[in-house]
Amino acid sequence: MPDHHHDHSAHHHAAHDHSAHGAVVHGAPADAVAAYSRSYEAAQPDPGRRVVSVELDAVDVDWEFSPGKKTRAWGFNGQVPGPVIEARQGDVLEVRLTNRLPEPTTIHWHGLQIPASMDGTDMVQHPIAPGESFTYRFKLPDAGTFWYHPHMNETVQLERGLYGAIVVRGPNEPELDAERVLVLDDVALDRKGEIKPPGGWIEHHDGRQGDTRLINGRKEPELEMAAGQVERWRIVNASSARYVLLSIGDRPFTIIATDGGLIDAPVTVSEVLLTPGDRVELAVGPFAEGEIVPIDALRYDRKTMARARNERFGTVRVGTAAPSHAVIPPKLRDIEALVPRTAEATREVHLGARMSLKHGVDFLVNKESHHRDQPVKVGELQVWDVVNDTMMDHPFHLHGFFFQVLDVNGEPPAFRSWEDTVNVPPKARVRIAWLPDDRPGEWMYHCHILEHHESGMMGHFAVIR
Ligand code: C2O
Ligand code: CU
Ligand code: CU
Repeated sequence: MPDHHHDHSAHHHAAHDHSAHGAVVHGAPADAVAAYSRSYEAAQPDPGRRVVSVELDAVDVDWEFSPGKKTRAWGFNGQVPGPVIEARQGDVLEVRLTNRLPEPTTIHWHGLQIPASMDGTDMVQHPIAPGESFTYRFKLPDAGTFWYHPHMNETVQLERGLYGAIVVRGPNEPELDAERVLVLDDVALDRKGEIKPPGGWIEHHDGRQGDTRLINGRKEPELEMAAGQVERWRIVNASSARYVLLSIGDRPFTIIATDGGLIDAPVTVSEVLLTPGDRVELAVGPFAEGEIVPIDALRYDRKTMARARNERFGTVRVGTAAPSHAVIPPKLRDIEALVPRTAEATREVHLGARMSLKHGVDFLVNKESHHRDQPVKVGELQVWDVVNDTMMDHPFHLHGFFFQVLDVNGEPPAFRSWEDTVNVPPKARVRIAWLPDDRPGEWMYHCHILEHHESGMMGHFAVIR
């Protein structure tokens, strides 16, 4: 049997037939409810911290990506993106999700190091049926910029607008003049201004790259900023497939944080790559009064069928000057190396593809769709070589645990950081290290190009004691 039985028109992982391959059929384990109850009870705030309660309703909404033009979309609490969830490190976040969509959903807390049973995938919980509610409850162990999105029918649910940012503040944050959250996305609209249904072999290969580019749910908006100030921009790339090689008017800016929070020391550059799923935090400015500064995605050739070019996400209009008290400390935090640079790999994860009569191409891990990988033991250091056997880039995302990038094709990264998503260039080998702490259960990693994820470029593994 040469082909997989994927039905991409009505995609539900649980309905896949992988029986002939020994690959993973999605579904919650028998003890899912008990594990959930245990995690729920165990989630208590640190001394002096509190419980942050949030209600999220996944609903239909007429959303104006551009003023005056309505598009039928889906949004948490009727907005795209959903509300920014703000809390402090050590708080407990309690989110009651009510599903008012016509199909089942869940929420995955991208980047949060929480118990497996709260990870929001259909491997750890039963999908939330239309009309039902489900409450997630967990402690926020890390400061940083994270995001939330469904972990079902992602190519539809995220494209329609179900995603939002999470800001977790730590005790020692750099003091800048102002802060803003920028959630980047793109949508593909048809002539009537409605979101196109997924489909087509080019989209299956490239992932969907829409031509309406959004910041916080608005097409190419104009942001106002005071002259002379330095702002902290928390940026999330929520696109299905778009790589954003971010440029802010070709001016220098300073990276202060990535996926897993502050990096060790600030790094000044004039462009930074955000793959789908990635976050970065920048110190931006100062600019002079009256300047108009473009926010662009520069041409990044990730070897798609569609040609890459420079594209605009928005602009900054610089207003009258305001005083600045911004200080970027030369040292942001201590990040100790998990392993020596020369550590040998303990596992290889191959990102691959195979010709398919049905789809043109299937995307795989270790030659398998929805690969079942070896378990990982709590406390045993993991050094993984993520090897890209294909001719295009893939953003590799690990659920629930931060990793350090040791090298990309033998080259160490420009700075030390904690990541949950890393780009794996064509034919490249990226060596990462991570430590499974005591959060046993079903975990996964996958390509964050949603079409590749859907096609099965993912691996599943248990963390065991
Ligand atoms: Cu943001 Cu499994 O993904
Ligand atoms: Cu899977
Ligand atoms: Cu991919």
